[in-house]
Amino acid sequence: MGQVGRHRDVEQAAERGDGTADVVIQMDGVGVVRGPSTLLDDVSWTVELDERWVILGPNGAGKTTLLQLAAALLHPTRGEIRLLGEPLGLTDVFELRPRIGFASAAIASRIPPGELVSDLVVSAGYAVLGRWRERYDPEDLVRALQLLELMGVAGFADRTFGTLSEGERKRVQIARALMPNPEIMLLDEPAAGLDLGGREDLLVRLSAIAEDPDSPTLIMVTHHVEEIPVSFSHALLLREGRVVAAGLIRDVVTSANLSETFGLPVRLSRSGDRYFARRKRAGAAATGL
Ligand SMILES: Nc1ncnc2c1ncn2[C@@H]1O[C@H](COP(=O)(O)OP(=O)(O)OP(=O)(O)O)[C@@H](O)[C@H]1O
Ligand SMILES: [Mg+2]
Repeated sequence: MGQVGRHRDVEQAAERGDGTADVVIQMDGVGVVRGPSTLLDDVSWTVELDERWVILGPNGAGKTTLLQLAAALLHPTRGEIRLLGEPLGLTDVFELRPRIGFASAAIASRIPPGELVSDLVVSAGYAVLGRWRERYDPEDLVRALQLLELMGVAGFADRTFGTLSEGERKRVQIARALMPNPEIMLLDEPAAGLDLGGREDLLVRLSAIAEDPDSPTLIMVTHHVEEIPVSFSHALLLREGRVVAAGLIRDVVTSANLSETFGLPVRLSRSGDRYFARRKRAGAAATGL
């Protein structure tokens, strides 16, 4: 793949021998408060360059809010955040945002249905939605097609976004988010609304991107452990705005932690590299089921 992402500044920092070179996201004691509601509370989280994170938690836990902070779209009420080495609040977010790709249903809903798929992807490199009047370099058009190919949707390049299925839209959106060669890639529930085949196909593609050392640092939000792509390394569990656990997937994704996160007794099982979760049945403690 190779062309998907670069870590220019972080690599330069590594060459300088800077101890924080590999840290792409650093949050310390972060809180987000809106009126009487605490959306995030005392979140501390460190993400390094080559890590691939999954964020799990129930509805309303604060997952999207956390991604918005990581995308420099939101400022915390409390605490400190550094993104790609830059302190949020002291840095120009308009320089920072193009270095961070973000794909979410909320963004998809703002895409005009008449937008051509190829225009939608190529225009991301110019930080606009849709092609409008810009002129694009031929290399950019080639890259847009390569990314559509990577996501298995090159055949839809000449279709309008509104004519695509939910799964096809998700993949086009990921291609668009990769277009500016971001250093961090944030995916908010990329598998939501997909059928079994669509989900499995997406997971294979995300795993392939995750395995490429040139890919951006990947962070994906999901409600389901079944959607953790193989070769993702880390997990953060959120409940009511607080971190339940964060670290290596094998340490964090456990029955006990998932039970605490989702507020019900969860039985976790594993098959190969995939995880499965279901509610523990009443009396399960005695039978082990
Ligand atoms: N501007 C706001 N004012 C008050 N509450 C808000 C505001 N924005 C979000 N919230 C609340 O903050 C909580 C966290 O929202 P967020 O979207 O981060 O959750 P989430 O974990 O992404 O949930 P879901 O899984 O449903 O997408 C929710 O209860 C939401 O209603
Ligand atoms: Mg959300």
